[in-house]
Order: sequence, then C-alpha cells, then structure tokens
Amino acid sequence: MALRNILKQGDEALTKHCRPVTDFNDRLCQLLDDMAETLAQAGGVGLAAPQVGVLRRAVIVLETNVPEGEPEYIIELINPEIIETEGEQEGPEGCLSLPGSYGMVKRPARVKIRAQDRTGKVFEREGVGLTARAFCHECDHLDGHIFTERCDRLMTEEELEAYYGSEENG
Ligand code: NI
Repeated sequence: MALRNILKQGDEALTKHCRPVTDFNDRLCQLLDDMAETLAQAGGVGLAAPQVGVLRRAVIVLETNVPEGEPEYIIELINPEIIETEGEQEGPEGCLSLPGSYGMVKRPARVKIRAQDRTGKVFEREGVGLTARAFCHECDHLDGHIFTERCDRLMTEEELEAYYGSEENG
C-alpha cells in the first residue's frame, strides 16, 4: 500500500465527471488499498478516486455507526448509485480537498446505495447520519461537485466553535 496525494480545490480533476469502473483487476485493488491508507492518514470519513487524481467511479466511506467497542470499517463503493433517500439532516460538512473549511449542508438522513464491490459483485447498503452524509458527499465528487456548491458560504471559526462546543464529543 502507498499514500496518495490528495488534490486540493482548484485542481481540474475535482470538476470532472468520472467514468465507470469496468475492470475489476489488481489495479483497482491497489487503488482502493491506497485510498484506505490515505484516508486513515488524513483522518477523514470518506475519499473519492478523483481526489487522488483517478477519474473513475470509486469511493470509500468510513462506517462510523458501529456498536460500542467494535472497530469502524471501510465501505468500498464502485460505480455507486443512490437509489433511495429519506428525511433530512443539516450539519457542518468538510472535505479533505478543502482542509479546515466547513459549511452547513443539508443531506438526507438515510440513504440507500447500490454499488459493486472490488470483485464486481453488486450489493445494496444503507447509511444513516454521518454515513448517509458521506455517501452523498463522495458520490457528488464522482460528478465533479464539491460541498461548497451546496451551501451559501463557509462557516466562520466562531460558528464552528459554537457548533462543536455544544456537542460533548465535537
Ligand atoms: Ni470531499
């Protein structure tokens, strides 16, 4: 495995519509392994292939909704499609391509996604809360969209402090 460079806002790769993954080969496995290592090192909850300069429809999301004492784990989504959404949540959203920036973004509270795994097998998967938000955020990347397009402005430091200061584990 190897760390990959995370592209920052302004890089053209982040504005491109990505092509489907068609070859479920060693190269894809290498990409997904590298993305997982890169995400762990960066401390984020999701990463899309275009963020590491690969214009293919592949993302990873850290599932943080796990029973107490059990480890968080990576969900790999190849050619993901959101097939169902329910409810609404609003909260600060950030992106590893815009370090330190957050904006209040509305997302569905629950999202069902259909995708392929690294072997090409189709599966469906539900996410709630932060996972639902990450599913939407990462799928947006595959169409060249960044969260700042979904909020009027970025949050100020004071607003961020006020938001997270009100949460015990913020
Ligand atoms: Ni992002």
